[in-house]
Amino acid sequence: MANMGIEILGTGHHAPARVADNEDFAKIVDTSDEWITSRTGMKRRHISSGEPTWYIASQAAHNALENGGVDPLDLDLIICTTVTPDFQTPSTASMVQRELGAKNAICFDMNAACSGFIFALDTARRYLASGDEVKTALVVSADILSKMVDYTDRSSCVLFGDAAGACVMRAAPGRLYASSLSSDGEGAGLLCARYPFPSNPLQDPALMPQWEDLDSPQDPYLHMAGREVYKFAVKALPHEVMRACQKAGITVEELKWIVPHQANIRIVETAAKNLGVSMDKMVMNLSEYGNTSSASIPVALDEAHRDARICRGDKVAMVGFGGGLTSGAVVLEW
Ligand code: COA
Repeated sequence: MANMGIEILGTGHHAPARVADNEDFAKIVDTSDEWITSRTGMKRRHISSGEPTWYIASQAAHNALENGGVDPLDLDLIICTTVTPDFQTPSTASMVQRELGAKNAICFDMNAACSGFIFALDTARRYLASGDEVKTALVVSADILSKMVDYTDRSSCVLFGDAAGACVMRAAPGRLYASSLSSDGEGAGLLCARYPFPSNPLQDPALMPQWEDLDSPQDPYLHMAGREVYKFAVKALPHEVMRACQKAGITVEELKWIVPHQANIRIVETAAKNLGVSMDKMVMNLSEYGNTSSASIPVALDEAHRDARICRGDKVAMVGFGGGLTSGAVVLEW
């Protein structure tokens, strides 16, 4: 398994039609284009006008299959990552399977927040490397963060957007691949959104103890300790890239491209400095999408693949970080 890499056959993405720019946010909260641009690098994001998560996921998946010339019936595995599914059950992956007619695939969802795509890619690679029945796998990451953003909270609402990205892959013996993944539940309260828990007629309020829980409000909105997450991110990003490169037996300089989670331009700039690499190596698109959670890496990857920045033989790192706390990088040869 050690020298079993993956070949990415095709990539795709999809974003809702409605685009909200910084001026749109200045109309609903006390903010400005100048503040958002200088603190985050963001200009625009796509916001769902009802498009469900399963729909944008299916569109991204369809585009990846078409890009790779892969028949949906050849898919053996579909992993979907999302923190904003439409249903608790069925999984979003099952909905994608239904839309694609990929009836031979096994399907499940994973949640590693903004690191989801990296964790799922690594899981798919382990299925592919096992040599069992999975020969072709699809990873699709989709989030409609506008479902859980509090649009009265100016410090968080300007950061997030909605999108989906996907890639289809198969095993490639001998091709470079390494990953580095980390989780730290101690930081769980830094970035969290509760699942709304409806009351029921049989519950007894007297029996409801004060459960030890995250120190966060009871509403279902996304809450974030921005500064703490920032400090975590600027360390996690270089750490995971360096560790994955070390495991792959290459230097960071040998990487042609780094595709980071698109959380904030200042996080990526600081991390690039810490890694000793130029921003030219970083594949960035956050000015047009904002932070789209686990979709951000595959959307940026798809754009860089389609415009031929990423070419066959390039050594590429992808790196994510986010709620959990989670972080992880994959280094591979394209
Ligand atoms: N417009 C105008 N002012 C804003 C604002 C907005 N949208 N959001 C916050 N402010 C204000 C704050 O109220 C504060 O005002 P005060 O000094 O009067 O109290 C001031 O700007 C500075 O706030 P601060 O939180 O220190 O700003 P910052 O430079 O740390 O930037 C973030 C805030 C959220 C952009 C930054 O912390 C960040 O990017 N954190 C990581 C977030 C992230 O990426 N999360 C997801 C990871 S997956």
